[in-house]
Amino acid sequence: MILRVAIGWDHAGMDLANGLIREFQKVFWNYIRRTPSKDPINYPDAVPFVVQHVYRGGVGVLICGTGIGMSMAANRYPGIGAALCTDPLMAEMARAHNNANILVLPGRLMSESVATACVSVFLNTPFEQGRHANRIAQFDPILAHSVSYDFPPAE
Ligand code: RB5
Repeated sequence: MILRVAIGWDHAGMDLANGLIREFQKVFWNYIRRTPSKDPINYPDAVPFVVQHVYRGGVGVLICGTGIGMSMAANRYPGIGAALCTDPLMAEMARAHNNANILVLPGRLMSESVATACVSVFLNTPFEQGRHANRIAQFDPILAHSVSYDFPPAE
């Protein structure tokens, strides 16, 4: 399996990120944003690197303390579906039902073994399409409006 995965983190996600990089490096990390020390950084600064990678067709992983800030920041970018997951079932559903393209993990709240399982399942679960694609289309308010709105008959 050769996947193109980018990972970004802040100081609160650094330990878990390093653990995941060790775990997966030989298999599929192609793009790693290295944060050199534990000096605090602003978590939104780690997001664009990963988003750009997703825009080029890759997969992303973001890690901050709770995962909340990274999720909120990443989901501001058009086309990004960043899913904060705390167990492997959530990671599976984030792909199968939500077509997420970035997995967000809480570095201060998750063990390395659970994080490893989340990454594995996220990278190996395809999007199921079908009814889930229709639901995702509704995320875009303009598209959802045009789908559901019945134009009044012409006079
Ligand atoms: C950093 O202290 C922390 O706020 C950050 O890692 C993240 O949890 C934000 O949502």
